[in-house]
Amino acid sequence: MPRTSSTCPHQPPPAARPLILLTALLTLLSAAAAVLADDATHYETKSPSRDGIGKVYMGREISQVMGHRGARWLERPSRIREELPSRVVAAMDLAPDAAVADIGAGTGYFAFRLAEQVPRGRVFAVDIQPEMLAIMRQRMAAQGIDNLVLVRGTEDDPTLAPGSIDAALMVDAYHEFAYPREMMTAIVAALRPGGRVFLVEYRGEDPSVPIKPLHKMTTAQARREMTAVGLEHVETQDFLPSQHFMIFEKPAAGG
Ligand SMILES: C[S@@+](CC[C@H](N)C(=O)[O-])C[C@H]1O[C@@H](n2cnc3c(N)ncnc32)[C@H](O)[C@@H]1O
Repeated sequence: MPRTSSTCPHQPPPAARPLILLTALLTLLSAAAAVLADDATHYETKSPSRDGIGKVYMGREISQVMGHRGARWLERPSRIREELPSRVVAAMDLAPDAAVADIGAGTGYFAFRLAEQVPRGRVFAVDIQPEMLAIMRQRMAAQGIDNLVLVRGTEDDPTLAPGSIDAALMVDAYHEFAYPREMMTAIVAALRPGGRVFLVEYRGEDPSVPIKPLHKMTTAQARREMTAVGLEHVETQDFLPSQHFMIFEKPAAGG
């Protein structure tokens, strides 16, 4: 038997054309409406898992926020060898006068190190928990640090001025943002063209990393979420014992 096409090669008769056109138009309109609805929400809901909030973004359930009662855990001495903070800050390769944001700064474990790295620049330490900001305020006063700016963000907005930063760092924080799409859109707006996002997350692909699943991320997932807001993946460095160090860039204007 000769192979046959499953579609008719003939043009339909003229009388049938308006009906076909109308059907095609309606299909297009409903597809556009579906995209708009998806764009408006970006999120789905499910019954919450143990550490999750039951809100799903691009297939990933968002984790609960680590409360300020965990502040001491963020400052645990073993973190120096577990998360190599000095190497993280060095790998960001910041100019001494850079403006940097530490989003989800917590107790300032990274923000204070960043402030040292940019003596002629500024560090915006953003967090939604006033208790975390209070811890940083005390420490700033005790250490006489004057290039750290404390910022009380909201769940969907880091409240940074557009075009005001050269780089943004997020360590063990992004996976708990309740509005990742809105946060990242605002962070991209706050970056200067060519500015960079440094995302540090526990390796989701590695079952031997003893961290709860929703507090880890795979590089594939992170890349999906970052490119969805217009960032370009530059590289992922794996010099950390248990985390990915991922670099993304806001395209230069016109680039
Ligand atoms: C696990 S802690 C990590 C803190 C810090 N980055 C570190 O590595 O020590 C995550 C922090 O992100 C903050 N956070 C969660 N959602 C946030 C949001 N939408 N905007 C800013 N901070 C947020 C939490 O309040 C918490 O202090």
